[in-house]
Amino acid sequence: MSIRRQAGCGRNSCGEVLMKIRAVYPGTFDPVTNGHLDLVHRCSALFDEVVVAVLRNTEKIPLFAIEERVQMLENVVRRLPNVSVTTFEGLLVDFAVRSGASVIVRGIRAVSDYEYELQMAMMNRRLSAKVETVFMMPAEAYSYLSSRLVREISLLGGSVHGLVPSLVERRLKQMYGRRI
Ligand code: PNS
Repeated sequence: MSIRRQAGCGRNSCGEVLMKIRAVYPGTFDPVTNGHLDLVHRCSALFDEVVVAVLRNTEKIPLFAIEERVQMLENVVRRLPNVSVTTFEGLLVDFAVRSGASVIVRGIRAVSDYEYELQMAMMNRRLSAKVETVFMMPAEAYSYLSSRLVREISLLGGSVHGLVPSLVERRLKQMYGRRI
């Protein structure tokens, strides 16, 4: 069974048709961290096109409005020509198929992530066999980093320097003030 879906194609020097692989990297990104960014760079090197897709979640109240999360992401990926940022709502697999993506990328930081991610990947496979989930690991330095911890540390006056892009750090300081 082929899970490859064309995001466009070209030919190599032997005249063989090469299919381009488009990957979706979905998430809440509230806010984007250096761990997310590390993964985007790895995806950008591995896939022909990468769509960073921010979930429009009506259930959770985010710290940053979706427009601001998208702006921050666009800013930090601006030097990666094969990466774009968009939003989605509804089922992730439907969005992936609509976007011509054959791959969903999810980051795995530690074994504790695996169970939830496996459940989601299996369910997504059941929902659509056209899309394959690929797990990728960020650099070790980000293995304990999460947006939730970044929000909590900022709220409580701690430093998130080195954990988030500088524009996110500045924005968090504006929101919570510099207390340390
Ligand atoms: O950054 P997050 O919060 O871990 O991302 C979770 C996300 C957005 C990937 C997940 O909640 C999702 O895919 N939501 C879309 C709705 C959906 O497809 N649900 C079924 C998943 S099996």
